[in-house]
Amino acid sequence: MRAEVGSGEAKPGAMQPNAKPGVAVVTDVPSAVVARLREHADVIEVSMRPRTEWRTALAAATGVLVSSAVPVDGAFLAAAPNLKIVATWSVGYDNVDLDALRARGIVLTNTAGSLVDAVADLTYALVIFAVRNLAVGLNWVRSGRWMEANMPYGHDLEGATLGIVGFGAIGLAVAKRARVSGMRTIYTNRKPRADDADTGTSYRRLDALLAEADCVVLLVPLTPETRGLIGDEQFAKMRPTATLVNVSRGAVVDTDALLSALEQKKIAGAALDVTEPEPMPPDHPLLAREDVLITPHVGSATFETRARMAMVAAENLIAFIGGRPLPTAVAWSGRSNLM
Ligand code: DGY
Repeated sequence: MRAEVGSGEAKPGAMQPNAKPGVAVVTDVPSAVVARLREHADVIEVSMRPRTEWRTALAAATGVLVSSAVPVDGAFLAAAPNLKIVATWSVGYDNVDLDALRARGIVLTNTAGSLVDAVADLTYALVIFAVRNLAVGLNWVRSGRWMEANMPYGHDLEGATLGIVGFGAIGLAVAKRARVSGMRTIYTNRKPRADDADTGTSYRRLDALLAEADCVVLLVPLTPETRGLIGDEQFAKMRPTATLVNVSRGAVVDTDALLSALEQKKIAGAALDVTEPEPMPPDHPLLAREDVLITPHVGSATFETRARMAMVAAENLIAFIGGRPLPTAVAWSGRSNLM
């Protein structure tokens, strides 16, 4: 079967009617998802094998199920000469070389819409950690300083301003949670939304948001436009009492600029679910800082959400094989629904 690039429509054509197409599963998805795929495809699982052994599976693959940790780049695609569809087990697809896919007419699907609440919950948890200065508190307890002196205070959430950079479905869900704690919410996007009165949130340009927010939350996808979005210039605009929460992609923040903003007390702290580099090497200076909390890219990492996302990826592959419209095809705009 072939689909037009980015159209979301699969068109009958390239495969033999009775042959099951090869699907390489290169990421460790739940067994129920593999079983579901096996009803329609000749599945080769290589997630637990060294990457050097992926070659055989990729050579036979019409479709591939990857995660955002797998670079779908020139080398990957060269090993997969018959590839027609890439289904990524993620909403973000900055791991995928879109130009290379487009050049070969390969379709891309993501798992849009399947992780909103899980990511919003994690984001809200990090906001609370950051605003209440809890990373410092954890370190005080661990390092036996509890009895020595008073733990540094944090700030009230009530009345504090949360600035959300990238206000799509996840941003809305975070704003809803933040308002339960009495936070004011402002956002920036490519353009103002039409429903500010309904969402209780108001638009600001990025610079104005940085200057006004007590906690800045990043929820934008990583694109050429957002790479390094928060650097020296932006940290200089933030309040010295403000904190940064990043749940988008590490490269949206200039890591060196973050480190120096913390060292120079231009901001008060950071809580990061995503980092650049990722994973962080254990000797990275950010890990030695008490004012930084780092979680290992677990925004969507609940059993329920990850299982749902994997099934969405599988259903995209199955729809493609069946020549049906793809549930969550990525339109080739280079944008995802995060913003
Ligand atoms: C996503 O879905 O993009 C999450 O960040 C997991 O990669």
